[in-house]
Amino acid sequence: MAPWLTVVGIGEDGYGGLGKAARRALREARVVIGGERHLALLPRCIAAQRLPWPRPFALTPVLQRRGEAGVCVLASGDPMFYGVGASLAAQLPAAEMRVLSAPSSCALAAARLGWALQDVSTLSLVGRPLQALHPRLHDGARLLILSSDGHSPAAVAGLLTARGYGPSRLSVLEHLGGERERRLDGRAETWGEVQVAALNVLAVECLAGAQVPRLPLGPGLPDSAYRHDGQLTKRDVRAITLARLAPAPGELLWDVGAGCGSIGIEWMRSHPACRALAIEANSERQALILHNRDALGVPDLRLVAGHAPEALADLPAPDAVFIGGGVSLPGVLERCWERLKPGGRLVANAVTLQSEARLVAWRERHGGELSRIALAQARPLGDFDTWRQALPITLLEATKPWSPHE
Ligand SMILES: C[S@@+](CC[C@H](N)C(=O)[O-])C[C@H]1O[C@@H](n2cnc3c(N)ncnc32)[C@H](O)[C@@H]1O
Repeated sequence: MAPWLTVVGIGEDGYGGLGKAARRALREARVVIGGERHLALLPRCIAAQRLPWPRPFALTPVLQRRGEAGVCVLASGDPMFYGVGASLAAQLPAAEMRVLSAPSSCALAAARLGWALQDVSTLSLVGRPLQALHPRLHDGARLLILSSDGHSPAAVAGLLTARGYGPSRLSVLEHLGGERERRLDGRAETWGEVQVAALNVLAVECLAGAQVPRLPLGPGLPDSAYRHDGQLTKRDVRAITLARLAPAPGELLWDVGAGCGSIGIEWMRSHPACRALAIEANSERQALILHNRDALGVPDLRLVAGHAPEALADLPAPDAVFIGGGVSLPGVLERCWERLKPGGRLVANAVTLQSEARLVAWRERHGGELSRIALAQARPLGDFDTWRQALPITLLEATKPWSPHE
C-alpha cells in the first residue's frame, strides 16, 4: 500500500517553522489529528477537519482511516522520538507512512548545551516511573530527560540527592525553539521546588558526592545493593549465572523462586529492552523484590506472586529461565523446559544434595552442562589468614534445541 498517512513534526515555532513538504501535506489534508496544543498552531488557511486525540489516548482515529487519502497526524518535534510516529510505526508497515520530522527536543537541547548527542543518554519520564533513572546514574554521565510535566525536575533533583548525586548540575530547558524558550540552572541538592513550565527537557550532568556506592553496569552488583533475608544469590555466583543466561535486547527471563529478585533485576539492567518475571511465593520476599526492583532502576520487572509450577501456567514463553529456588519441587524443571523457547537457555542452581540429585537426573534425560562453583574468601584466623569456603553451588546450564519443524 502506498503511503496514505503523513505524520508532521512541528516545533514551538509553529507553522512558520515547517518545511515546504510539511506545509503542503497539511494544506492538502482532509483531516489533521493531533494534540489540542499542536492543532492550535495551524493557521486558518488549513481547511482540513481538526481532530484532537481522544481521552484516554488511542490511535483509533488514525487506524480506522487506513487507506483514506489526506490523513495527517501532527506531533511535536521528531515524531519518531518518544512520539506518536513511533507508536503508529508499531501498528502500521513503514511503507504506509510518510514522516516529516522537525528537530527533536533533545537535538535542540544538545545544541543549546554544546553536548554531543551521541555521548548523551536520553530517556523519557512521560508515563514512565521516575525509578527508571537509577541505572543511568554514573559519575560524569550526561542525561537528557523528557519531563512528564513541570514537577519532573524537582522529582529528579530529589532522587539524585537521595542517591548521593546531590552535586549534579541541572538545566531545565523550557519551550525549546519557541518565543517562550527559557533556561534555568542549578544543582540537585539545592533545587527545591523551582516553578518550571510543563513543557521542558531536563539536562543532568551527574556528579557523585563522596563515598556514593558504585552500581556498575556489568552483572554482579555488590550484595549490599540489595535488601535481602539471606536468600540472595551472592555476587560472584550471580555474575556467573548471568553470563550463562546471556541476556540480549528484548528477551524475557523467568526468575523462578526469585528470592529478593537479584537475577531478574540484573537481567533487566543489562539492557533497557530486557524484560523479566520474578516468580515468588513468599510474601516477605515479594516485598523485597518490589523494593529492590525500584531501588535498582527496573520498575517494569513484573512480580508473579505464587508457587511454581502452578504459577507458571499462563505466563508468556521465556527466552531464558533461571531456577534459584524450587529446583526439587515436582514439575518445576519440566514445566520450565517445556515452556522455554527453542534456542532458549535454562540455568538452575542447587545447594542441597537433594536438588543437585534432581539436576543430575534431569541432565541424564535432556543433556546440558553441570558446573560446580566453589568459592573461598581469605579471612583472619588468629594472627594469620585462611580460606573460608562458601557452600558450593551446582549449576546446570542447558540450551533448548530447535525442533526439526522450525
Ligand atoms: C511525548 S514526548 C515527545 C517528544 C518529541 N517527539 C521530541 O521530538 O522531542 C513529549 C516531551 O518532549 C519534551 N518536549 C517536546 N518538545 C519540547 C520543546 N519544544 N521544549 C522542551 N521540551 C519539549 C517534553 O519533555 C515533553 O514532555
